[in-house]
Amino acid sequence: MKLDEQLEERLKSEAIKYLEQGKPDWDIPHTLATVHWMRQLIEKEGGDERTLVTTMYLHDVGYPELKKGYDFDDLMKSKKHHAQNGAEIAEEILTNLEYSPTEVKTIIKLVGDHYNKENINTHDLQLVIEADGLAKIDWERVTPNFDKENCLKYLDYFKGRTAPQFRTNTGKRSLKELLQKAENYWK
Ligand SMILES: [Fe+2]
Repeated sequence: MKLDEQLEERLKSEAIKYLEQGKPDWDIPHTLATVHWMRQLIEKEGGDERTLVTTMYLHDVGYPELKKGYDFDDLMKSKKHHAQNGAEIAEEILTNLEYSPTEVKTIIKLVGDHYNKENINTHDLQLVIEADGLAKIDWERVTPNFDKENCLKYLDYFKGRTAPQFRTNTGKRSLKELLQKAENYWK
């Protein structure tokens, strides 16, 4: 099902209230980029826009607050509980918007699982992880808030952990393009 425009605006403003308390200069533009990439993936790979795009708006609402100038190690620590916290916050947000109980269940499960990448067992979760991953290295769309050293550390981590998780043709094609650009970003 399509995500209604008015509902999307309300969802976005609810999500932003949390995202603006998370990682400065990152969580908001990154989240909007995940929405862009999810729409690209759905177009080619199929999937339900209402649940999947909603998941992207909410997937990172559970990050703890980080101060400007945080580094790679701070980021890694902050990841630990963000998916589970996010699922709780997402449930609160969704119960005040027009989503069915089944949709709420699907979305909060995807939010809660999106960092638990050892077991990608559904097409939906696969798309969530790929949209999230593409938006992490899409540095034309989302300017990195790390310095060169931390950015390159992050890119190594991404190549070791996230890139191997890509499965869809559309995801893999975009990954290849974005990785190439990211490799050249600091040159
Ligand atoms: Fe994310």
